[in-house]
Amino acid sequence: MNIVAIKIINLTKTYFAHNEKIEVFKNLNLSFEYGKLYGIMGHSGCGKSTLIKLIGMLEKPDKGDILIEEKNAFMLDDMEQSKLRNAKIGFIFQDYLLDEHLNVYDNILLPTLLKPNWKSRNNEIIELTKKYKIDKRLKHFPKELSGGEQQRVAICRALINNPNIILADEPTGNLDKKNEEIILNDLKELSKKGKCVIVVSHSDVIKNYADEIIDLEEGV
Ligand SMILES: Nc1ncnc2c1ncn2[C@@H]1O[C@H](COP(=O)(O)OP(=O)(O)OP(=O)(O)O)[C@@H](O)[C@H]1O
Ligand SMILES: [Mg+2]
Repeated sequence: MNIVAIKIINLTKTYFAHNEKIEVFKNLNLSFEYGKLYGIMGHSGCGKSTLIKLIGMLEKPDKGDILIEEKNAFMLDDMEQSKLRNAKIGFIFQDYLLDEHLNVYDNILLPTLLKPNWKSRNNEIIELTKKYKIDKRLKHFPKELSGGEQQRVAICRALINNPNIILADEPTGNLDKKNEEIILNDLKELSKKGKCVIVVSHSDVIKNYADEIIDLEEGV
């Protein structure tokens, strides 16, 4: 039995927009362990990105709790949430969310700025960008990159702080098959080294990598 990284307890999430109530989850219970790769599947709009945002404390639930290493995420104030997020979680978003005003190098450096040793991260950035074949584009701004290149920058940025929990929302959505395999292999490798890796995916390929598949259909 591995150590539990994230525990989701009776989570209920509803959006209200344009006079409509969208109940995304009702009493959702899930548990994610270290040392495993989880595939989150389900049709478009079933709540995969919402779940990732809730775990990352970027959204608040209506009811229920999320424990991150036994800390109740929604009992923390904003500052404590930022600290926890920065210390434990790496994000790869569906829509990259790179900072358009920063070049590739600075985008990757950004999550390290809250750390004391951020000035000495140059070698790590070079190594990581070489691995993800984006080292020839360090001075480029996001709009000067292809979709797949932006995605690889987002992956470098998620990994630079060596997070224990990796949340990846369709990390290979814009990549060709070969690059998809490289990234999924890496994420698998990280889970084998003890990280908790959660990957949202539409593609059945994820089934070849995941230790567990969670189908979010019907919000259960
Ligand atoms: N900020 C918001 N306000 C209102 N409704 C929202 C908001 N964000 C998401 N929704 C709705 O909640 C539902 C779940 O959205 P979510 O983005 O989690 O889906 P998803 O499973 O990630 O879909 P996809 O596979 O297309 O990325 C959708 O029906 C969406 O329209
Ligand atoms: Mg989504």
